[in-house]
Amino acid sequence: MKTLNHLAVAISLASLCTFAAHGAESKGSVEVVHYWTSGGEAKSADVLKQLIEKDGFTWQNSAVAGGGGAAAMTVLKTRAVSGNPPSAAQIKGPDIQEWGNLGLLTSIDEVAKANNWNSLLPESIASLMKYDGHYVAVPLNIHRINWLWTNPEVLRKAGVAKAPTTLEELYAAGDKLKAAGFIAIAHGGQPWQDTTVFEGLVLSILGADGFKKAFIDHDEATLTGAKMTDVFSALRRLKSYMDPDGAGQDWNLETAKVINGRAGMQIMGDWAKSEWTAAGKKAGIDYECVPFPGSQGVYSYTIDSLAMFKLSSKNDTPGNNAARDDLAKIALEPQFQYIFNQNKGSIPVVKGLDMSQFDSCAQASAKDFADAEKAGTLAPSMAFNMSTSQAVQGAVFDVISHFMSDKNADPAKAGSQLFASIKAAAQ
Ligand code: GAL
Repeated sequence: MKTLNHLAVAISLASLCTFAAHGAESKGSVEVVHYWTSGGEAKSADVLKQLIEKDGFTWQNSAVAGGGGAAAMTVLKTRAVSGNPPSAAQIKGPDIQEWGNLGLLTSIDEVAKANNWNSLLPESIASLMKYDGHYVAVPLNIHRINWLWTNPEVLRKAGVAKAPTTLEELYAAGDKLKAAGFIAIAHGGQPWQDTTVFEGLVLSILGADGFKKAFIDHDEATLTGAKMTDVFSALRRLKSYMDPDGAGQDWNLETAKVINGRAGMQIMGDWAKSEWTAAGKKAGIDYECVPFPGSQGVYSYTIDSLAMFKLSSKNDTPGNNAARDDLAKIALEPQFQYIFNQNKGSIPVVKGLDMSQFDSCAQASAKDFADAEKAGTLAPSMAFNMSTSQAVQGAVFDVISHFMSDKNADPAKAGSQLFASIKAAAQ
């Protein structure tokens, strides 16, 4: 059954290529700034390109390498300041409002109305896509962040019977993997990756409520309390299991170490699955996904979305506007939602799509999302731009990466540093 699913994706992509190749001359262009450059993610972005080309438009790919998107944001800011914005860029959560405040985004209400977005999207997600009551962005997916990915064969070889579900089991698995000569946790020492692990620990130790108090309310007692000290102590411990060659390493190169059997585990959002899928590996057989140990029941997430820019007078042509509207329309159509998300590792953002074509990790993700929504334990990710401004996120990244690089940093003081940095950045 799973083989059939993969075949279905491959067939759909192949048929799209044929359409693209025979497409008529371009009716207009759409330039998209994004940061999907790993093998699996580039393949996912290609789905959008092919569908755009099938409709006779030109896709201008402005991919900027760098996981988490910091480099892409720098490019985008330079482009915007010099009056030459792209048609669309991957911008998420509260940042959409910041770009809207600058007067740089354009309304896509007509596309939204014609395609019934108000009934396709959950209200909470639709409202994130609007600025001043108008749709200015289209969401593509929901990525779960609090995952642990394992290679069960490596775990078995190291004498670890099952994927860890508690922090104690995670440490025990780390000890066994190291003793057996494996990299226990594949991890690239970049600030956003360090913060992904930190965020998992916050969810595990403080729960969804504590997470919200810390990273939405910026509550002093939570950020400086004893449990935050526990989070930093746990982070110190996890560092001892991380890839010794991981300094500055890209996330996908670390995923490759789990795929090829050099490492046992990786703590990463479910775009990691895009690499497993691109390598032809099967969920539940070649790899396993479990919630980050201790954070079961909590679902931290990010929503990839493309915000639409007002074009420069040179680029503001009917053809280019039609190309942008086509992009927005395609993004929420079932065909795109199915193929893109199966490649990307995420789940559809459109309500009520049948998940039976998806693998076991995506099915678990969809179920956990719905359960967390009911229980009030959805956590908009701080590390992935959903809970706070870029300035506050940057302040957190700095504190976490300093803590990770200074082996003498005191876990009992790190929370106060975090609070002071957040406060300064939030002003
Ligand atoms: C996130 C983004 C994902 C993935 C990841 C790694 O911010 O939402 O789609 O690209 O970064 O770059």
